[in-house]
Amino acid sequence: MLFPEGVAIDGVTGSVQPATARYAKRLSELRGLFQDERAQERAIVDRDDPVVYEVIDYRKAESDLCFGTTIMSPGKVGAEYYMTRGHFHQRRDRGEAYYTQSGEGLLLLESRAGESRTVEMRPGVCAFIPPDWAHRSINTGSEKLVFVWFCATDAGHEYGEIRERGMRRLVVERDGRMVVTDNPKFLGDGSKLA
Ligand SMILES: [Fe+2]
Repeated sequence: MLFPEGVAIDGVTGSVQPATARYAKRLSELRGLFQDERAQERAIVDRDDPVVYEVIDYRKAESDLCFGTTIMSPGKVGAEYYMTRGHFHQRRDRGEAYYTQSGEGLLLLESRAGESRTVEMRPGVCAFIPPDWAHRSINTGSEKLVFVWFCATDAGHEYGEIRERGMRRLVVERDGRMVVTDNPKFLGDGSKLA
């Protein structure tokens, strides 16, 4: 049986107390994600394989609702800002919300039909992610980007499609400014190529 409880979330560090699980993704675990593979290999060595982001869960299998934090380091690989892998949900009828606590970033979204959108991530903005939109968060600032996510426990993660074909847009720094550009390596989906 589940009982109510208060969960302390620190909006600056992203700590969750009590938490049920956590994981970190280091740059060496994100090969294939960034455009400039040589810059990534160099950064893995020069920066001692840094943690790009960390996810902390408060997740009870018996509950329909879960939440937690994502803590993203600032940094770039080549011109691209540090980002998460990006995913669809396994369940296509499950959306999510990202409530930014500190830092600044961009949420990059792509519908199943191929429409791209972005939502600014800054403290006070709660981003609505509709069902069946792929989502990737990007730390475009110089500090940690910390946000709280709320999701259905059974939503599930589907990383493969984005890993294999990429997303249609890239978020890069150009002349000291954040720019959203087309991804030259985007592979499209098989049905369109056929
Ligand atoms: Fe998600």
